[in-house]
Amino acid sequence: MKILDGKKLAEEIKKELKVEVLELKKNGIVPGLAVVMVGDDEASKIYVENKKRACEEIGINSEVYELEEKTEEEKLLKLIGKLNKDETVSGILVQLPLPKQIDKEKIILAIDPKKDVDCFHPENIGKIFLGLGQEKFFPCTPAGILEILKRSEIEIIGKDSVIVGRSNIVGKPLALMMINAGATVTVCNSKTKNLKEKCLGADILISAVGHAGLITADMIKQGAVVVDVGMNRNKEGKLVGDVDFLQVSKIASAITPVPGGVGLMTVAMLLCNTLRATKLANK
Ligand code: GUN
Repeated sequence: MKILDGKKLAEEIKKELKVEVLELKKNGIVPGLAVVMVGDDEASKIYVENKKRACEEIGINSEVYELEEKTEEEKLLKLIGKLNKDETVSGILVQLPLPKQIDKEKIILAIDPKKDVDCFHPENIGKIFLGLGQEKFFPCTPAGILEILKRSEIEIIGKDSVIVGRSNIVGKPLALMMINAGATVTVCNSKTKNLKEKCLGADILISAVGHAGLITADMIKQGAVVVDVGMNRNKEGKLVGDVDFLQVSKIASAITPVPGGVGLMTVAMLLCNTLRATKLANK
């Protein structure tokens, strides 16, 4: 059984990107990422801090805008308009979730697609749908998962992949990218009938639900590859995924741990997208 070490792979990618950043800087180009956070969501604060630190590590300028919980939509739209025009900003990321008074869809549409490093804008996600995303952005978490599989030399073409979770951030774009990569894809959700039987058919099982202990050993085909996107706190306050790691790792041929798996790769892919945005702006 192989542990798919997201930490090690993310470090490897950051090392590669650092070289690219140096190359850009030699040409007088400095990549910049603007991260916008609205409100006091505790998980968001940690994610934003991790993103900022990763930027610093590889030489990307990062600026974090922290707006208060009661911020009006208009004010956020104004800030995005300003960042869209700012040539020192290559990429813009608005951390989700947003407070209720702000229409998330409106915000996503307001971000210049050329700076949309989350790949949330319909123009960018539409390219993924059509399999045309290559020269632009990829959604960070799905891209991180495919990169783990690629760098671990796990074949995707012709494999049966079951994705549990259908969110716009992970499940849905991941399904498109796995289809584009040649897998036969089944997308399940919390209401799926016979989830266990469906999971048992998976050569590659990916869970992105946010429910600790959802994926148990009796749902895993012998030798399957298991990717855990879940980030949950258990009763003891420990960070755990969706997968019962101890038991499942006895049956799987490869598995991502939590922490130390997909999460760190998500951040690495954000850095990749930021460099892509920088190059796009300086073609
Ligand atoms: N909230 C949880 N995941 C993400 C992400 O990938 N991007 C943004 N912007 N917000 C998130």
